[in-house]
Amino acid sequence: MSSGLDDVIAAETVLSHVDGAAGRLIVRGFDLDELAGRRSFEAVLALLWDGFVPESMDEATIRAALGQARVVAFETVGTLIGATDGLSAVEALRLLLAALPDAATTPHHLLAVAAVPVFAAAIARRRRALAPVAPDPTRGQAEDFLRMMRASDIPPAHARALETYLVTVADHGLNASTFAARVIGSTRAGLLSAVVGALCALKGPLHGGAPGPVLDMLDAIGTIDNIRPWIAAALADGERLMGFGHRIYRVRDPRADVLKGVAADLSHGDNRIGFAEAVEAGALALLREHKTGRSLDTNVEFYTALVLEALDLPRDSFTNVFAAGRVAGWTAHVLEQEQSGRMIRPQSRYTGPMPVRRHAA
Ligand code: ACO
Repeated sequence: MSSGLDDVIAAETVLSHVDGAAGRLIVRGFDLDELAGRRSFEAVLALLWDGFVPESMDEATIRAALGQARVVAFETVGTLIGATDGLSAVEALRLLLAALPDAATTPHHLLAVAAVPVFAAAIARRRRALAPVAPDPTRGQAEDFLRMMRASDIPPAHARALETYLVTVADHGLNASTFAARVIGSTRAGLLSAVVGALCALKGPLHGGAPGPVLDMLDAIGTIDNIRPWIAAALADGERLMGFGHRIYRVRDPRADVLKGVAADLSHGDNRIGFAEAVEAGALALLREHKTGRSLDTNVEFYTALVLEALDLPRDSFTNVFAAGRVAGWTAHVLEQEQSGRMIRPQSRYTGPMPVRRHAA
């Protein structure tokens, strides 16, 4: 029995490979740095979906089809956004995604990938008493996502930064949310149900819920002098430092470096990055002291927080923005699972009491 299934291979996939010892992420034959900052989100979707969707979809076809699917998804915003009042941002996304019908005529992989940013943007605005912004189907997904969030024209550097982020997090092996998606997909429940289940797994602070708390931590630390005492106290209290540690990586998460570069490009020389680097260095030093024998390093979420903050996205939307990237991988894994996998049904070892034979008096 492997608690946490650390060493269990539960699927074969052509989609992505995480080499935890080397700190390497390969997506369909490409190293992360060949994709992030170099390929559009739509191009990476074409890569991930290749061979799993009936139609042959290149980058341009996907861009156009996704634009149309965003328009379709926006109809759900009109009818249901009011029902999200009082919910957290990620609960609201769960509600809207769950409302997409299995009978939808838009291919479900397109609808799911289009719907997440449309819903995430409408939710972020609703939480600030702002009207939703309708999608513009002629734009690329990353630019349109920011436009729907901010209701303004988007500087190309910002659209590129979000695009790099979405590509960086698009797929990552059999992480918890992707595994959840594959389990649901394996029962033939349908892609939209699998995406809802994946979001539910992503929402946990140990997985996709970390970047908001990373910024909370930076705020709580506040000054350079407070870095060591604050972190030492948190570790002494048994807290986990958000943005550090990973189940697979035993070295630095390669996505952290990509996103640190993006955050630095967006920073205009302000000292936010410098402070974050100082916190990172302090955290790594203290984790080495407190968690001897574990190799805990920076993960993707630390600099995700800095990138999304620099893009002026509200903190409470960070998990939903992550979902807008990772939904690419979820859909591809579900399609792959449906095409080639058996129903996932592991066994448990029973450790409860055995029944005692009770004789009638
Ligand atoms: N801060 C402090 N201690 C930590 C941290 C951390 N960030 N991460 C792991 N540890 C400690 C655990 O408390 C545990 O110590 P113990 O044995 O003394 O109890 C030990 O290291 C376990 O390490 P792992 O087996 O490597 O951890 P696991 O695989 O169970 O957890 C996880 C991985 C959930 C990511 C963990 O590192 C964590 O909670 N990190 C903080 C949350 C976070 O950043 N999540 C985002 C991850 S990236 C992503 O999902 C997209």
